[in-house]
Amino acid sequence: MSGIYIHIPFCKKICTYCDFYKSASFKNKTEILEGIITELAYQKEYLEDEEVETIYFGGGTPSVLSDIEITRILKSIQDIYKVSEDAEISFEANPDDLSKMYLEKLLKTGVNRLSIGCQSFTDKDLILLGRRHNAKQSFISVLNARSAGFSNISIDLIYGIPGMKNWPETLCKVLDLQVQHISAYHLSIEENTKLHKLKQKGSLKELDESISNQQYNELVEFADINQFIQYEISSFGKENFFSKHNSNYWKQKNYLGIGPSAHSFNGSSRQWNVSNNKKYSQEIKKGKIPFVKEILNPLDHYNDYVLVSLRTMWGVDLEYIENRFSKELKDYCNTSARKFVEYGLLRIKNNHIYLTDQGKFVSDNIISELLYVN
Ligand SMILES: C[S@@+](CC[C@H](N)C(=O)[O-])C[C@H]1O[C@@H](n2cnc3c(N)ncnc32)[C@H](O)[C@@H]1O
Ligand code: SF4
Repeated sequence: MSGIYIHIPFCKKICTYCDFYKSASFKNKTEILEGIITELAYQKEYLEDEEVETIYFGGGTPSVLSDIEITRILKSIQDIYKVSEDAEISFEANPDDLSKMYLEKLLKTGVNRLSIGCQSFTDKDLILLGRRHNAKQSFISVLNARSAGFSNISIDLIYGIPGMKNWPETLCKVLDLQVQHISAYHLSIEENTKLHKLKQKGSLKELDESISNQQYNELVEFADINQFIQYEISSFGKENFFSKHNSNYWKQKNYLGIGPSAHSFNGSSRQWNVSNNKKYSQEIKKGKIPFVKEILNPLDHYNDYVLVSLRTMWGVDLEYIENRFSKELKDYCNTSARKFVEYGLLRIKNNHIYLTDQGKFVSDNIISELLYVN
């Protein structure tokens, strides 16, 4: 079982908070698409003939692609790899790209899971985030997706936005939309973003942590009341609607990432492609894939395992650590976890470690204490 991720590194406008690899110049679009098709063929051996059960178009903005371009990529994947018949095919889209006609064509390509970047249902937040759409467009895009026939829809939301006042209203709108999945992230102000510059200049006041903590609590409560299961810190899905692709990442299944900046993992190593559209297409034209590779040692594996597993509802399995790594690492993990158990941030049950609801809000600090640094 494995997955393929395709990175589409273009955005019509750069949002003020985003540090994912993307370019607002579409100059190389044709070359990049050719590069993606070529890379798919070059990487044929990477998944060692394993069945591909998930395909994920991420970005950047996959919805800058036409249905013809999407079909071409999917056909190449199907020609080269063994794709399971009921593969989950996810596609990230920006609300303002989702006209009724686009959605109808998109459904025909075989995409069967749509992830729409709504972010907020308040115009003031969307303006600060530098989004291209307003709240009404976000709302309508989801309704249009449903009427076009998409039955597995996820929306992205961001909370903890400076000046954010209407989070409960945003959550109410989600209910009206009857989506199957929500990905909700705390705004993170990353270096090299416009928001970071504003913060450095003193013209942006971050939201008080007590308010964003309250928003997080409202989110968890909302999810609980409305049968969304929090299967990972930022991921809430109705039963049978968890993202298979992301769950496979978290369960450390193999995946192949194609396109500029895409990451791949095959159990023994991870590698990542160059984050530069021009260099990517130039190298691919020369017959080379421009990536950096890192061979993983057992401690890297242990750290990766703890890093991803603790964020999920499946938790960290101490028995697995003992069998897969060593008794010493299991004891180290168990002992490091104890102090957080006392503060109610972790809980240990049936030889598994889980974050509590409050632990999830400060998860980064807890996880770093459980990692093993030489
Ligand atoms: C890389 S974007 C791609 C999706 C699509 N381009 C869009 O913007 O709708 C995936 C999601 O990550 C989230 N995200 C990106 N940067 C973030 C940040 N700095 N803080 C919080 N969430 C972020 C947003 O919710 C976004 O929808
Ligand atoms: S959030 Fe999405 S649309 Fe905005 S810059 Fe990032 S990838 Fe592009």
